[in-house]
Amino acid sequence: MKGVILAAGTGSRLAPVTNIISKHLLPVGPYPMIYWSIIKLRDAGIKDILIIVNKKHLGSFIELLGEGEELNVNLKYKLQQYEGKGIADALMAAKTFIRNEKFVVLLGDNIFEDSLTPFIQSFQGQEKGAKVLLKKVKDPSQYGVPVLDKNSKRILSIIEKPDNPPSPYCVTGVYFYDQEVFNLIKDISPSNRNELEITDVNNLYIQKNRLQYDLLDGWWIDAGTHASLYQANQEIYKNIKMENAQ
Ligand code: G1P
Repeated sequence: MKGVILAAGTGSRLAPVTNIISKHLLPVGPYPMIYWSIIKLRDAGIKDILIIVNKKHLGSFIELLGEGEELNVNLKYKLQQYEGKGIADALMAAKTFIRNEKFVVLLGDNIFEDSLTPFIQSFQGQEKGAKVLLKKVKDPSQYGVPVLDKNSKRILSIIEKPDNPPSPYCVTGVYFYDQEVFNLIKDISPSNRNELEITDVNNLYIQKNRLQYDLLDGWWIDAGTHASLYQANQEIYKNIKMENAQ
């Protein structure tokens, strides 16, 4: 299986530093944020990784990571076609890299504890469709929130940033797709915030009865704000010995 890391976002919630540097290159513990996504994929056996970036920051990513020699992975890069046009638009840039395989997508600002291995294994056994990972959070209204049917253990729909969250869970930025995702992206239209929403793509999978889910056990953080970036640093430093963190 291949992996795709989406790292093209403008990072506006982390301004002003993100006016000059990609948020995915800001430190989380001793490493730039993007390292954590690469390490999660690599440790689950995924070494062919595409990083989707924006034009402004491509040079910095290449300078830092090259072709992945230091981290023992094979890295490729693609530019998001229309900057700021959303996660689903960014994902479209992965089409030629993926071709006809199933793959894993990580939002590069999602930092989490769980290993990806069991989820990849279960997705390998899924005949077709997609899988999302859910996490119980304090304030689901900032995220995509699933409407769950407890009896069938299925997601009935996902609502992006709802005022009244229908469940205490959020859909994390860890997604598993088959190649049908690229056709589904073509079927969606821009949202109120003028982005192609990954939630709309996932809702199309639900309509086809092809979206499965699992729950993350460990901590999970979307490190896209100053407060959550600080929290991600705290979690990482709790888990590594300070003498290694220089
Ligand atoms: C995005 C997705 C949202 C998901 C979140 C996870 O939100 O749209 O569904 O819950 O990532 O980090 P955004 O970061 O674009 O606000």
